[in-house]
Amino acid sequence: MLKEIFEHRSIRKYLDKAIPKEVMDEVLQAAIRASNTGNMQIYSIIVTSEKSLKQALAPAHFNQAMLSEAPTILTFCADFNRFQKWCDLRNANYAYDNILAFITASVDAIIAAQNACVEARHHGLGICYLGTALYNPDKIISVLNLPKGVVPVTAITIGYPAENPPLTDRLPSEAVVHYETYKDFSEEDINRIYSEKEEREDSKQFIKENNKETLAQVFTDIRYKKSDFEHFSKILIDTLKNQGFLK
Ligand SMILES: Cc1cc2nc3c(=O)[nH]c(=O)nc-3n(C[C@H](O)[C@H](O)[C@H](O)COP(=O)(O)O)c2cc1C
Repeated sequence: MLKEIFEHRSIRKYLDKAIPKEVMDEVLQAAIRASNTGNMQIYSIIVTSEKSLKQALAPAHFNQAMLSEAPTILTFCADFNRFQKWCDLRNANYAYDNILAFITASVDAIIAAQNACVEARHHGLGICYLGTALYNPDKIISVLNLPKGVVPVTAITIGYPAENPPLTDRLPSEAVVHYETYKDFSEEDINRIYSEKEEREDSKQFIKENNKETLAQVFTDIRYKKSDFEHFSKILIDTLKNQGFLK
């Protein structure tokens, strides 16, 4: 078992220390080594270390504090721009102005991101994903000058950790692993699978702080609300249209 994987915790506080170029190069090379669709490498990685640019990106990530602390932000984008240019120059018909192309390129970008995260940990760096990249892709496109065919799908803060938080819990493996075919969950299964999480002191505290009856309500009513999902879905759909992946 790889300790880089099993000791992973998201790091949200960073030392004021730049990442040496040779270390960052290895992190980026690890990302590039990842499997990718047809070896087309239909993604790009934007490395942002300049303070003014990080500040410009912060609102797109809802001003999460770690953005100003981390020396670098990596933004992973689904990217058919370069590939399209190559096709155009080589008399090849471009066929990727559709949703399958976006999802395919997104999968590649995310696999590359996770390779970068594991390599980062190997160098003693900490990372935290910024899911907010998908909430405000339009703002990120504007700050990072992303051309048509390019959409940010995830981002990470990366730097030397200034904290060592405890490992977070995980559901038992029966929650996510199905052998041979999918076995749907009975009420009893759900109760068993979520019981440990629901019994944790931090979960109980979470419910109390948010004035809710159940942990699930903290997710649906506070953290990941339907109204937010609907609002940001609209922005994402408009962005995919503007960037040429949806008509
Ligand atoms: C796609 C994705 C988006 C995430 N977005 C955020 C984020 O915007 N802010 C944040 O503080 N953590 C974010 N996280 C970190 C998760 O909250 C974290 O991985 C999860 O709580 C498990 O904790 P661990 O990574 O320490 O094991 C994100 C993680 C993923 C995979």
